[in-house]
Amino acid sequence: MIREKINRSPLFYIGDKYKLVREIKTYFPDTINRLIEPFVGGGSIYMNVYANGYLLNDINTHVVDIHRFLCSFIGREENFYDLIFKIIHKYGLSCSYEEDIVPTTLKQHHMKTYYARFNKEKFNRLKTDYNHSKERNIAELYILLIYGFNRMIRFNSQGDYNLPVGNIDFNQNVYNALSNYFSINATKRPRWFNQDFRRFLGDIDYQKDDLIYLDPPYLITFSEYNKLWNETLERDMLQLLDHMNKENIKFAVSNVTHYKGKENSLFIVWSQKYNRHPITSNYISYHDSTIKKIKEVLVTNF
Ligand SMILES: C[S@@+](CC[C@H](N)C(=O)[O-])C[C@H]1O[C@@H](n2cnc3c(N)ncnc32)[C@H](O)[C@@H]1O
Repeated sequence: MIREKINRSPLFYIGDKYKLVREIKTYFPDTINRLIEPFVGGGSIYMNVYANGYLLNDINTHVVDIHRFLCSFIGREENFYDLIFKIIHKYGLSCSYEEDIVPTTLKQHHMKTYYARFNKEKFNRLKTDYNHSKERNIAELYILLIYGFNRMIRFNSQGDYNLPVGNIDFNQNVYNALSNYFSINATKRPRWFNQDFRRFLGDIDYQKDDLIYLDPPYLITFSEYNKLWNETLERDMLQLLDHMNKENIKFAVSNVTHYKGKENSLFIVWSQKYNRHPITSNYISYHDSTIKKIKEVLVTNF
C-alpha cells in the first residue's frame, strides 16, 4: 500500500502534529463540512485533512500574520521568492537551497555549527533592522524564523523578536514546505482568525458535519506557548466542549494526560464522558527512560 504523503508546515512549528496527523485523522469522520481549528499553530492538521472549508484561528498574532502573508502570495509565488531571496542576499545570509557559500575551512573547523557561525552577524543585523523598523516587515520575520534558533517565534516584553541565530538556513526542505503550502492553500482557501479560542468558537454559526479539532497548549508539559495556558482556560475549554456536544457539534481534542509523573486530572475526569483514543506520543524519545510515563490522547464526541 502506498502511504499518503504528509505535508510539513513551512512554519516548522514547535509541538506541531506533523508526526501524528496520520494517526489522528483515522479518528476523524469521513465527511467534514468545515474543519474548525481554534489552536491552529503551524497548521499541520488542516494542511493534511480534506474538508469543504477551513476556519483557522490562533491567539498568536505573529503566527496568523505569517499565514496570512504566505497566503497572500497564492498564484504569484515567484513574487514571494523574489522578495525573500532579495532580503537573504541583502544581508549575505547563506542559502543552501540556491548555492553553498559557506567556506570549506569554516565547515572543517566547525563541523556541527558552521551555519550558525557563518550567519550570526548577518542574522543579528537583520534582527536589529526588523526590531527598529516602524512597520514590521513580515517577510523579514519569516526569514528570522527560518534562520533563528529552533525555528521558533519569540518576542520579549518590549515586543522585540529576541532569539539567537540557529544552525540551519533556507534549504531544499524549506522550499519544498513552502511550495506545498502554496499549492495546498490554493485549493483549501482557509479563513484566518486571530482571537482567543472562546471568542472564536462563540462567533461561529455551526453547520451540519462541521468538525472542531482542538490542539490546545498542554497544562502539564513545557512549551513556549504553555505560558499562555492555565487551569481556568482549560476548564473554560472543557465547558465549551460540553456545550458543543449538547448542540450536536462534533469535536476532537488532543491532550497529554500523563507527563513524567504529572497528571492532568481535570482533563482525565472530563474525558470519561466521551471516546478516548490513545495516540503514540510525540514526546517519546527512545533514549529516555520516561517512555511509558507519557500518555497522549485524542478525545472525540462521535
Ligand atoms: C499545541 S499548539 C498547536 C499546534 C498545531 N496543532 C500544529 O500542528 O502546529 C497550541 C497553540 O495554541 C495557541 N493558543 C494558546 N492560547 C490560546 C488561546 N487562548 N486562544 C487561541 N489560541 C491559543 C498557541 O499560540 C499555539 O499556537
